[in-house]
Amino acid sequence: MTKANINPEPSQNPFALGNQEVYLRWQEQKLAAYPELAGQLIVEVRDPRALSRAEKQKITELCQKTNMAIYQSEVKDADKDVPRLLGRQMGLTNLDPNMLADEDGITSLELMPAKHERGYIPYSNRRLLWHTDGYYNDSSHRIAAMLLHCVRPALSGGENSLLDHEMVYLLLREQDPMYIKALMDPEAMTIPANLEAGEVERPAQSGPVFSTNEQGSLSMRYTTRVRSIIWKDNIATKSAVEALANILDSDCKYIFHHRLEAGQGIICNNVLHNRTSFKNGESTATQRLIYRARYYDRINSGTDK
Ligand SMILES: [Fe+2]
Repeated sequence: MTKANINPEPSQNPFALGNQEVYLRWQEQKLAAYPELAGQLIVEVRDPRALSRAEKQKITELCQKTNMAIYQSEVKDADKDVPRLLGRQMGLTNLDPNMLADEDGITSLELMPAKHERGYIPYSNRRLLWHTDGYYNDSSHRIAAMLLHCVRPALSGGENSLLDHEMVYLLLREQDPMYIKALMDPEAMTIPANLEAGEVERPAQSGPVFSTNEQGSLSMRYTTRVRSIIWKDNIATKSAVEALANILDSDCKYIFHHRLEAGQGIICNNVLHNRTSFKNGESTATQRLIYRARYYDRINSGTDK
């Protein structure tokens, strides 16, 4: 377990810039035996809807180490109870009902030309650039965890890259702590209002890239998109954003690459991720369908471990 998950004392928060000793102890723990291959994140489960104690333990431990796990099962039904019940067992209950989610709060991500034409790339087969989910949400609706469950992969493509946001924090702080200071600025990034048909659907949101909550957990808001974001106009912010982009653009050994197969899913504390473009086939079986659930809770942040 990382210090971040258990220590509510502000003076013991490794992510606060003043606490160098606390940070160094956290860093040592974080780097010790950190996985370097996506295969090390995979947990075989018999049925994600009803995890065994050992399966749940394994997913919990991976999420504590890397903020993510990939589960794999033979349950390949188009059943939204798979992500819903898995999430619930991992302490995820507060779903974010974003405006394009299905009525039950879980989004079916598939090729949908009508939504794509409105500018929503997740519903296209184009690549998705690096981001954390809900980066445009206000601070009271911060997405702390998210789950992607694959019902059907595409004929080809649709691979995800994943990078633990705590690891990005660590890499940036190692380069220059001033990068962290700039990215913790409450005005570091502004998402312009989302205008549709001339009406404001979502007001502009300013906020930090990195922030910590009362429990001392680190969260990250970020997108590589340039069209939908305004960075604070100073050299410190620009340098920090450039350093971050360079890490994401590199072959950093902490970036995991994985293409979800049917019955597999990613459960994570909203780590950085992207997606390559994909190509569907003619038959339904080769048309990509992913269920996505976003939560305000972190994985197992309660007492039930
Ligand atoms: Fe996403």
